[in-house]
This record gives sequence, C-alpha cells and structure tokens, in this order.
Amino acid sequence: MQTYFELLNQAKEILQHNTIAVTVDGKPYERIIPSRDYYVHQWLWDTAGIAMGLVHVREEAAFYELLLLTAGQWNNGLMPHIIYNPGETKYYPPADKWQTTSFTRHGIKTSGITDPPLLAISAEYICNHASDEQKKRDFINNILPSIMAYHDHLKRYRDPEDCGLLTIVHPWESGTDDSPRWDSLLNRIDLNMIPNDIKADVDLNRKDMRYHGSQERPTESDYYRYIYLIELFKDLSWDYTKILDETPFAVKDILFNSIWERANEAIAALLHTCGSQEEAIKYQRWAEQTRNALTNTWSEEHNQYCDIDVTQGRHQAIAVPTNAIFMPLYAGAVTDKQLDILLDRLSLADEFGTEYPVPSTAINNRYFDKERYWRGPTWPITNFFIIEGLKRYKARHKNADQLANLLAIKTIQMIRDNGFWEYFDSTDHRTEGHTKGMGFSSFSWTAAILIQLLNMIHYD
Ligand code: DGY
Repeated sequence: MQTYFELLNQAKEILQHNTIAVTVDGKPYERIIPSRDYYVHQWLWDTAGIAMGLVHVREEAAFYELLLLTAGQWNNGLMPHIIYNPGETKYYPPADKWQTTSFTRHGIKTSGITDPPLLAISAEYICNHASDEQKKRDFINNILPSIMAYHDHLKRYRDPEDCGLLTIVHPWESGTDDSPRWDSLLNRIDLNMIPNDIKADVDLNRKDMRYHGSQERPTESDYYRYIYLIELFKDLSWDYTKILDETPFAVKDILFNSIWERANEAIAALLHTCGSQEEAIKYQRWAEQTRNALTNTWSEEHNQYCDIDVTQGRHQAIAVPTNAIFMPLYAGAVTDKQLDILLDRLSLADEFGTEYPVPSTAINNRYFDKERYWRGPTWPITNFFIIEGLKRYKARHKNADQLANLLAIKTIQMIRDNGFWEYFDSTDHRTEGHTKGMGFSSFSWTAAILIQLLNMIHYD
C-alpha cells in the first residue's frame, strides 16, 4: 500500500507529465492540460481546479496557469470553456467548429460557451495558500480585472431578470454534460429536425469513443444535440441576448449557481485585500441574492433543491436526485431543516452513501448508470465541493464535519486504490486486479484534487 507521501509524488508526476509548452502572443509558456490522451486543450473549470492543487507544489506555476487562462477571455468578458492549443487534433469538436476568433484577442481560438465559474474561487484559494506576499499582490492586481469583467458579463447576459440565478444554455456549461437532470430538456430537441450534416459530422469525427468504451461516454443522440446547439448559437452570432430567447436548452442550474455564489464571495474577499471596497460590496450583494434564490429552489415534495427549466418562458422545477443537490452546501444556502435532510441522503446506502461516494446520480434512481459519465460514476471534483460545503456547516451540525472528513478520506482511498482516473465506479470496491477507474487515466484535476485533499486532512 502506498504512503500518502508516495501518493503525493505520483500526483505531482501526473501534473508534470501533462505540462505542455505553448506560445501566447509570441511568448513561450507552460500549461497543464487535463489529459494527454484526449483533453489536450485548456478547460476553464479544469484549469481552475488544477491551479488549486498546483499552488501546494509550485506556487508560481499556479499563478501562471490562471493568468494564461484569461488570455482566452472575450472582449465582452465571456470566459470560454475551452481555449484551444494550436495544432492539437485529438479532441472533438475542433476549434474551427465555433468560429469565435473575432471575439478574442491575439487570434486565440476558443469555444463560445462557458463552464461553471470557478475562476475567482481558484484565484482566492491560490492567494490563501501561496506564501510570497508581493507575488500574491501582483497576481491579484493582474487577474482581478478579468475576473470582474467575467462576472459582470455573466450577470448581465445570464441573469437579465436579476433573480440571482444565472441561466446556462448548453449541457456542457453545467460541467455535468449528460446528467439525467437534462434529459427532459434535451429530449425536446427532436432528432429528426437535426440536419443530417450535423449527424454525419458527429458520426465521422467524434473521437472520445475511440479511446475507450462507449458505455462510459454520453450517447450518440446526446452528441447530435450538443453540436446542434453549437450550430444554432453560431447562427445567432454568439449574441447572448438572442441565444437566451431562442435556445431550446435554458436552465437555472443549482451546481453552476452554487459555484457562482461562492465565486462572488471570492471576488469580494480579493477586493477587500486589494481593491475597491465599494466593488466588494457589489459582489457580496450578488452572492447574497444567489444564496437566497438557491434556498428557494428547495422542493418539500422531493426533499431536494431543483434546477429550473426556464426555456422559452417556462418555469419548471427539475427534480432528479443527483450529486448537484448537495451543491447549495458549498454556497452556504442551506437551512437547518434542509441540512438534516441532506446529511441523511448523503449517508443512505441506497442513495448516495455508496462504497465510493458520492455517485453522480442516486443509485436507487431509475436513471442511475454506474458506468456512464455523469449518470452514476463518482467524480473527485464534485466530491471536493461537497466536502468544502459540509465544512461550511461544521459549527451548525457535528455530523457535517465528520461526514466531510469521511468523504475526504474515501476520495483519497478511491484514487489510491484505483489510480488517477477521470471518474470512478461508485458501487463497490475493486475486485482484485481490476480498476474501478473510468474515463481517461493520469487525469490532471484528479491529481490536483488529491493534493488539495491531502493538504486539507493534514491541516484540519
Ligand atoms: C467534453 O468534451 O467532454 C466536454 O465536457 C465538453 O467540454
């Protein structure tokens, strides 16, 4: 059995292995990609997560990782979810699918949608864990304008009604692509009306399934719809006022919005350290507004928080029991009664209290699929949010802290026993010689989260 020290070294080696050289605006840099096998570009929430692990091992590299990410920001403030590395062809869809270069600087190619907004949280985490005060200050001064522009963009275009909850317009923006939370919306996009050239492109060029079993990835119909949405938004010239009106997929996602809440708290904290107090108050208010709105998504009938389908004037709760229902813990939006219920549901063996918790869908739910991407497997990143969320409630409920520590230990063991995979079978321990890891191996954010968890256990 490996010691924690050996495990930490393995995590560092994976981050090193996934480091590539890039040139931005004529200058050479290094950046860490999620996986050499397929995810060969820079993803917004992956990079934010990677930088949070990296700060514990190479402080300066963590600063650069985030600053480089902001090089891909659009002139209107959008932080795209992918920043493409030139010349890489392993990933589908390719950079040219999006046609977004007129929105970016330095001719950088990006996607046109965003990811859960983890950027500010990562910047704050890095500052809380870095030691060089001057470099920290420089970093905050460099990155804050981009983060503020991103948040102002999201608030303006994704919450035009000013209700406190942002709207996402593509399942990829949720980070939980094929979650059963999205089935009812995606099924409204009739496959027969998707043009044949989109389907042919997906059939011919989709690459993720060439690397491993199709049972672990989103289905073919999912991909037809994902690409159909991109084509639609491209036709609307990436104008988010029009996109919000016309998209067949518009949701107030509780996971995305819990991160949004926490991210506004993070900007406010950074601004308190070095910035305008007036601006800090603005972001604090946004955070508070989102907290209240999240609390109100609770359904007494279903004992959970619900996403809200807001497509074309609808206002309909989506009550599927996935790990997203624990995310309002991370946002501090949970009442005492809700906390009791969430703690119970996290512990129940036939729901979320599995051998390797927390499954992405409750195991007794009809949509649960132990192998398929966000429909059952356990993901280190969402575990990390739930652990941090539970810790937020440690003064209110003694079980919250115990459960957070247990979940941290189990997540570390899951990685130690199986390897640094993208996601894991939640249902039982591995049979001898057989990994429970799935997706891509040597995965950067799994390595980064392991480093964060080891650090948390050590200092808690
Ligand atoms: C993928 O390709 O798996 C993503 O989730 C889209 O960013």
